[in-house]
Amino acid sequence: MGRFGQRFAWVASVLILLATLGSPQGTRAGEEPKLALTPPMGWNSWNHFGCKVTDAVVRAAADAMVSTGMKDVGYQYVNIDDCWQGTRDAEGNIRGNERFPDMKALADYVHSKGLKFGLYSSPGPKTCAGFEGSYGHEEQDARTYAQWGVDFLKYDWCSGDQVYRQNEADTKAAYQKMHEALQSTGRPIVFSLCYSAYRVWRWGASVGGNLWRTTGDITDDYNQMWINGTQQNGLEKYAGPGHWNDPDMLEIGNQKLTEYEPRTQMSLWSILAAPLIAGNDLTTMTKETLAALTNPDVIAVDQDPAGIQGQRISQEGPLEVWMKPLADGSKAVGLFNSGNYDMQVTADFSQMGISGPASVRVLWPRRQLGHFRSSFTAIVPRHGAVMIGVSTKQ
Ligand code: GLA
Repeated sequence: MGRFGQRFAWVASVLILLATLGSPQGTRAGEEPKLALTPPMGWNSWNHFGCKVTDAVVRAAADAMVSTGMKDVGYQYVNIDDCWQGTRDAEGNIRGNERFPDMKALADYVHSKGLKFGLYSSPGPKTCAGFEGSYGHEEQDARTYAQWGVDFLKYDWCSGDQVYRQNEADTKAAYQKMHEALQSTGRPIVFSLCYSAYRVWRWGASVGGNLWRTTGDITDDYNQMWINGTQQNGLEKYAGPGHWNDPDMLEIGNQKLTEYEPRTQMSLWSILAAPLIAGNDLTTMTKETLAALTNPDVIAVDQDPAGIQGQRISQEGPLEVWMKPLADGSKAVGLFNSGNYDMQVTADFSQMGISGPASVRVLWPRRQLGHFRSSFTAIVPRHGAVMIGVSTKQ
């Protein structure tokens, strides 16, 4: 190789190195991008706005995600749920409806804030709210999403039953089809399966799912939230970096979670390594709602790099203790009370695999409590949670 050749080889290898560093999430060319290495965090229009979502609502949510500091603690995706679709054009390309006149411009706006942009569709001919689904247009829709700059797709079964036989193999094939369509665009797009039949947690990752719904719809109601969250117990082995169980979105800041209930959802979801997708109006939320959504210690539990989903370690009637092992060897522990009266709850260190004394800090409000010999006891308010970090390190 002559001097020119050597210099060319040197320049080429620097370019390859730069391309590798600059590619999504640091992957090498040709390798599959590693998406959702920690549970996705963001906002979705459905729980608060339903079908009243508009371009202006989404822009305002993106603005608020930045101005409130939510972006700084990790919220990233701005996702439009159902009801954005209009008709297809003569070539079959999907278009936004009158509330979304220019989806590409909207995606650009969200990206200009340093955030990511998500959409919703269905494998069937219609979405759950009766809008245009992706059936028969999967590759075309995936290409359109990639052109618009979509980073996250929630794919909701709904009318899939009208066109696919109702069995596990055909359901998987329908999800696999969209996964392949998304992949062939070359754009990294988080794939969110909105489907909870046929034990989706067993196969969601095998059809490219980064998260999958494990329950029916959450509602703005403590009891429904508690059922969705606690039903994750036993599913922990199916969760991990890149593939998460999804007990549905947050209801914090909507009308009916009151007093300690918002903290309870946030604490339980974090111990579950669940996606943290806010579902309230970010532009009008109270200080208390914002504080519940943005406690950095609680978010750090959810986003722990080990990606281990926590589990219940004890239960006595309405009193439960849940534990999540963290990457640094410490444990995040939630003491919960789903009863109607304030009650004392004890977390035994032996049930966490800890023998001997350990230091305890409370996460709401953030405070070191010192060393405890073999257990930790607290009064937990009705529908409330006390969340602690337990560490044997000096
Ligand atoms: C289903 C989903 C919800 C929401 C609606 C939209 O019910 O489970 O999360 O996406 O459809 O129609």
